[in-house]
Amino acid sequence: MASTALRHSAGGDVEGGVGRTALLVAASRAIETHRRDSLAQDVFAEHFVRAAPACADWPLRIGEVPDGDADPLWGRFARYFGLRTRVLDDFLLSSVHAGGARQVVLLGAGLDSRAYRLDWPEGCTVYELDREGVLAFKHEVLAGLAATPRAARVPVPADLRGDWAGALTAAGFDPAAPSAFLAEGLLFYLPGAAETALIETVDHLTAPGSALAFEVKLEPDLLEYRTSPLYVATHRQIGIDLLGLFAREQRPDSAGALAARGWHTSVRTPFEFTREHGRGPLPESNDALEGNRWVFATRPRA
Ligand SMILES: C[S@@+](CC[C@H](N)C(=O)[O-])C[C@H]1O[C@@H](n2cnc3c(N)ncnc32)[C@H](O)[C@@H]1O
Repeated sequence: MASTALRHSAGGDVEGGVGRTALLVAASRAIETHRRDSLAQDVFAEHFVRAAPACADWPLRIGEVPDGDADPLWGRFARYFGLRTRVLDDFLLSSVHAGGARQVVLLGAGLDSRAYRLDWPEGCTVYELDREGVLAFKHEVLAGLAATPRAARVPVPADLRGDWAGALTAAGFDPAAPSAFLAEGLLFYLPGAAETALIETVDHLTAPGSALAFEVKLEPDLLEYRTSPLYVATHRQIGIDLLGLFAREQRPDSAGALAARGWHTSVRTPFEFTREHGRGPLPESNDALEGNRWVFATRPRA
């Protein structure tokens, strides 16, 4: 068990800045895991939170939240992450089982434990790209649990604002073979130019039959939502100022760019999946989730 508190400062501390958002998602996954009507189970998630001293007072079960589901952070926002986890689990599993990809690339992997918890086919490799400090923290916690990945797992420390393609191919990724890429909860932390470059890089690295899913925020002015219950609660309760971490500049049209390069794309709202699964967040007024979209793209076979 990972009972010892772990600390990392080099290469992006998991407890500071944008690294801390990975702990927010992990705590949300822990809460989702133990709901009676859970959409996704991640038994590793709570161990990451427990290993981070800065999160000592964060809840790991909805029953520990005084206002329960009415809490904008640990109720609605955590439910959002639970739904997102399930939808993107399904995307990756269908890309490998039906689509035939055997390379999975998690961009901004954070504390995603999919390599350990999903049913991967024989011969599958999961590449995890994030800052060095975040990956080191994750490694120590999982090593402390004696957890065994269910696919070959290759951590690739990288700054995704820069040139990361060389690190990925040096780690064994083969651009000539089909792959499934995921950028979950990542792109809005990157400058617009870095998002454009990242999408171009994925396009260059992918063979026909590959797939990509990513999350974007389409609000023209994020500050219009600064009084939204979700942003206010996240800042007040756990000190994460999401609006301060997001790159608040005009976003590129990444779905459009992929379509122009011949990819088939579909742009969905999270609320569509809430309706499909029968649980998850629904629209509300002054809603920080209003502009969130989940984009699914496939590169047709030649
Ligand atoms: C909100 S977390 C999401 C983590 C994971 N995808 C999930 O959904 O559980 C955002 C992640 O992006 C990573 N990240 C943000 N900017 C990055 C950058 N420039 N280079 C590498 N990783 C970055 C952070 O370290 C963090 O782990």
